[in-house]
Amino acid sequence: MPLAAAAGVEACGTEPPAVVELPEPAFRGAPLEEVIAARRTVRYYSPEPLGLQDLSQILWSAQGITDPDRGMRAAPSAGGTYPVDLYVQPNNVFGLECGVYRYEPVGHRLVLYRAGRFRDAIHEAALGQRWVYTAGAVILFVATPARVAEKYDEASALKSTLLEAGHISQNIYLQATSLGLGVGAIGGFSAEAMGRLLGLGEGQKVVYLNLVGNRR
Ligand SMILES: Cc1cc2nc3c(=O)[nH]c(=O)nc-3n(C[C@H](O)[C@H](O)[C@H](O)COP(=O)(O)O)c2cc1C
Repeated sequence: MPLAAAAGVEACGTEPPAVVELPEPAFRGAPLEEVIAARRTVRYYSPEPLGLQDLSQILWSAQGITDPDRGMRAAPSAGGTYPVDLYVQPNNVFGLECGVYRYEPVGHRLVLYRAGRFRDAIHEAALGQRWVYTAGAVILFVATPARVAEKYDEASALKSTLLEAGHISQNIYLQATSLGLGVGAIGGFSAEAMGRLLGLGEGQKVVYLNLVGNRR
């Protein structure tokens, strides 16, 4: 069962689906070197909705399972502890209703985490940066460094978690560029406000936002 909408967040008109099975990632893009050369942060987005197939491809590149036998993912992880979970706020995604969804790498699907209209609140928590409102989707990186600390030590847990977030983000940047989409990284936001909005528990923190959408 998803959690109820946070205080100050409007309820959805109709109940969003509890689970969204994502289409199989199938895209084969440009050579890596061309994608690296073309990669730029894009701050202007068109009102055309982001396709679910594109979002699927992006999430697979970020955290998808690439070795099902061993449960290994697209981005590297300290000791395979995977301390970063990806949550999606679909501002404007074809076929996705209002709410915040959690990406589940196993099963390659989105699970409704919180129903409610979070677009305004997330935009505000990101210090009013306009592109947080206009991009097709906001991907929120929720870190749980304790997963690393359990295997290694407390001191290196946060460092490894943030480094991993960087790897994930780079995959998102390159995949979005390869798809001809706009993409951007955001570190300018209130982690406290984001944590409150999502109702995160002790030891969890939003550490990064990435945006994707059709370019203007
Ligand atoms: C950790 C990090 C945080 C960032 N935070 C923001 C941000 O809050 N707002 C913004 O407009 N750009 C942000 N950016 C994007 C940078 O401004 C951008 O990457 C930089 O200008 C270089 O441009 P390029 O990505 O097109 O090469 C961030 C980038 C990184 C790596």
